[in-house]
Amino acid sequence: MAIEFGLLVLGYLLGSIPIGYLVGLSAGIDIREHGSGSTGATNVWRCVGRSAGITVFCGDLLKGAGSILIAQYVLTQYQAPTPWAEWFIVGAGLMALVGHSRSCWIGFKGGKSVAAGFGILLALNWIVGLGAALVWGLALALWKTISLSSILAAIAAPVLMIVTGSPLAYILFATVSGAFVIWRHSSNIERLFKGTEPSIKENKESLS
Ligand code: G3P
Repeated sequence: MAIEFGLLVLGYLLGSIPIGYLVGLSAGIDIREHGSGSTGATNVWRCVGRSAGITVFCGDLLKGAGSILIAQYVLTQYQAPTPWAEWFIVGAGLMALVGHSRSCWIGFKGGKSVAAGFGILLALNWIVGLGAALVWGLALALWKTISLSSILAAIAAPVLMIVTGSPLAYILFATVSGAFVIWRHSSNIERLFKGTEPSIKENKESLS
């Protein structure tokens, strides 16, 4: 069991690599004090620029996918698979989301776990990952608001896991992580109801 619990810690540490914060720092700002305060790709794009945002999106996606791929390799290839292997695989992914959102390196601040979550979904079940990305893209085309797209993709993920006949561990993971992502969007939800959430057209600085 030491290996399994070690993978949970590794998942947290991978997720906690503060890519958005470091990219912000390289542009001379503390991203936690700008825009929405999130270290995620949307806020980095908003406050630093598009290519910085894309860099953060790719890095965060790889962190999420990496937490799953490493756990999958160790628990199913490196050692003989056990009945609880897939629970620790999704556990490593969940820990990566927690690490991303509450990074111990930057005062337990972080992002909203959307890009990292996409990476995890792609690694667990690429059809679900692509399906969630499609929901995100369609919602963005319709309503032009990134946070709303992220929330809808988080709702779609567990449904897609069920529809594709995924294991119970994956369905529960998508449900819990979807709820986590929605909870991380609490301030966005408040602004959406007030009608003050910026659309992609007006996605420039000054949120709080
Ligand atoms: O991926 C995060 C996005 O959905 C919202 O980010 O910075 O606008 O709160 P932000």
